[in-house]
Amino acid sequence: MNDRFLRACRRESVDRVPVWFMRQAGRYMSDYRALRQRYSLLEICRQPELAVAVTLQPVDVIEVDAAILFSDLLLPFTPMGLDFDFVKGEGPAISHPIRHPADVDRVRQVEPRDALAHVLTTIRLLRRELSTKVPLIGFGGAPFTLASYAIEGGPSTTYAKTKAFMYEQPAAWHALCDRFASFMADYLRAQVEAGAQAIQVFDSWVGQLARADYREYALPHTRRIFEALADTGVPTIHFGVNTTVLLADMKEAGGDVIGVDWRLPIDEAWDLIGHDRAIQGNLDPTRLLAPTDRLLPAADDVLRRAGGRPGHIFNLGHGILPNTPLEHVQRLARHVHEFGL
Ligand code: CP3
Repeated sequence: MNDRFLRACRRESVDRVPVWFMRQAGRYMSDYRALRQRYSLLEICRQPELAVAVTLQPVDVIEVDAAILFSDLLLPFTPMGLDFDFVKGEGPAISHPIRHPADVDRVRQVEPRDALAHVLTTIRLLRRELSTKVPLIGFGGAPFTLASYAIEGGPSTTYAKTKAFMYEQPAAWHALCDRFASFMADYLRAQVEAGAQAIQVFDSWVGQLARADYREYALPHTRRIFEALADTGVPTIHFGVNTTVLLADMKEAGGDVIGVDWRLPIDEAWDLIGHDRAIQGNLDPTRLLAPTDRLLPAADDVLRRAGGRPGHIFNLGHGILPNTPLEHVQRLARHVHEFGL
């Protein structure tokens, strides 16, 4: 198996810089769009054979060094009592969002091995398919990002409802995050038992918080998840967007690898984090829309700044955009592998 991704997570030496892409399976691929004509996103996530097929699509056509489980951050919501669906063109819609402290009692503690057995089945099947290829990344959401969906009821630009709840009802906020943290700790451990070889914790929207608020309202809950994974031995990745001022605090919460967006050059971000952690990310996903003579030099800049130090995983600062040309993604992955260490 190609293990350069796992080696980089552990800051060991590699023959080539490993590369994978957040949202490497998705709408920019015609095979994915074809499958989506026949099945909803949730149907794909809930049927292991379909989720396996979609996970493997990018592995077969792009030179990526890791596969990421095809699933969604919000899948735990339904068994936990927060029913939701994806609305075309709008994103997730939660039927009865959390608005009052009493609503937190509706969030049930469930056993992930029963409630999300299909995800674990998908992981087991994938490990068989990937055995001679690349490692499999499992994932889940950090409490702040999950709570933001539970409270907003869907996407938001200001996160005003989330923050108002946090400030007005701190005890209920912490109780809600505590439930998410307990569930995620258990769920991610179950993913490792099923065969996930690395775990990424997505705290996608935590960059909305002031640093002091991050430390008070988010960090303790996220830290519990990383602590629960420590004895599994698998590398962990801690990712968020717009987190330039939070990087040192996110490191404190945990993660062998810290994910960074595109706002800061990668060498400066790595200095803030410290070289005792690996780093992943950094290229603006919009760059993939540019002609290759404006795309590849931007990738070179990331590669040069990372300087061949052990612990660099090439990725985007966030997920691949739906209108990205597949050829650009293929070209970029090949280019990263051609970079001389
Ligand atoms: O290839 C991969 O990266 C794995 C698949 C994956 C999906 N969701 C499938 C998906 C992963 C890792 C996620 C995580 C996820 N889900 C996050 C965190 C990642 C991030 O982007 O920061 C979040 C915030 C969600 C919640 C979610 N799911 C939203 C807000 C949306 C709608 C927005 C959009 O892009 O349309 C989704 C839908 C979703 N999840 C798609 C995919 C491939 C869109 C494709 C579709 O509708 O068919």
